[in-house]
Amino acid sequence: MRPSFNAMATASVRRMKLGSQGLEVSAQGLGCFGMSGFYGSPKPEPEMISLIHHAINSGVTFFDTSEAYGPLTNEILLGKALKGGMREKVELATKFGINHGDDGKMEIRGDPAYVRAACEGSLNRLGVDYIDLYYQHRIDTRVPIEVTMGELKKLVEEGKIKYIGLSEASASTIRRAHAVHPITAVQLEWSLWARDVEEEIVPTCRELGIGIVAYSPLGRGFLSSGPKLIDSFSKDDVRQRFPRFQPENLEHNKLLFERVSEIATKKGCTPSQLALAWIHHQGDDVCPIPGTTKIENLNQNIKALSVKLTLQEIAELESITSADAVKGDRYWSGFPTYKESETPSLSSWRAS
Ligand code: ATR
Repeated sequence: MRPSFNAMATASVRRMKLGSQGLEVSAQGLGCFGMSGFYGSPKPEPEMISLIHHAINSGVTFFDTSEAYGPLTNEILLGKALKGGMREKVELATKFGINHGDDGKMEIRGDPAYVRAACEGSLNRLGVDYIDLYYQHRIDTRVPIEVTMGELKKLVEEGKIKYIGLSEASASTIRRAHAVHPITAVQLEWSLWARDVEEEIVPTCRELGIGIVAYSPLGRGFLSSGPKLIDSFSKDDVRQRFPRFQPENLEHNKLLFERVSEIATKKGCTPSQLALAWIHHQGDDVCPIPGTTKIENLNQNIKALSVKLTLQEIAELESITSADAVKGDRYWSGFPTYKESETPSLSSWRAS
């Protein structure tokens, strides 16, 4: 029998350079989204703080949050966890631009006043003097990207943020932003069931020397648990809204999970580890940030760094996960993605 990767005693988290400006992070990060709601109720704070400390002690030091997570409460949680000497051990990434008003309505904001106020808010909630990587979470299509970037550049000059990132931005938005100030990382959904970014965005990042941060590398849990995942959804789990989890699409999508599981079994690893290993094999400029709320799952995800795939195994995985293997859009209609992220030109904006 082939050795099981779960059984391997040691796993190490290597370090990698993200982008071309000097940022160094752990080669696997930790997405903190699910700790503060959205995937069911918020998880108990002491448990999440222990998980964050465990991650740091295990070498996972690249933390991903946002003002929108919670909203706000995820940054507060991370801030509490980083007290007492932990801050300097981590690379802290947060995001601005998805604003939840008091009425709960969501608004995308990238105007300079908002960018500045959001940054101050994040610094306060996180209890830190600077943010390592500050992303625009979603692109405000009313504001030229150059204008948003102008304010971010000032925040770099003031030392409030070290590096700039974009999330769910189109290739042309990335180019325009990068011309104002170097972009260190682009965050995008990239996994065995979300591969559309390979066409244009990934090559653009590579051409410009921008690091790639892959969010939802486990397909929000689908690539870990398959269709049975939906049986665990509580009433307030946001995944119930995602097209790919709708029964009419799930019936088709489950085939993909079954094929991934078969290959994982042959390989002696779990489907989660195979999905992460595939991302880790996409290049040394790619950092996946799986989200978890459980120490055992974090340990398992770290071990994915030791799963070696042959070119043949990668080709097999890619042949079963081509675009028509997945039914349903990534998001529900109206939720902003890179496909609707073009901003007005500076000249048209000034003239209006
Ligand atoms: P996101 O970026 O939105 O967090 P993701 O990383 O693709 O999405 O997947 C996160 C989901 O995968 C979570 O539901 C997480 O559940 P737990 O919080 O219970 O861990 C699940 N997940 C993460 N790692 C896992 C693992 N090793 N085994 C099983 N499920 C896992």
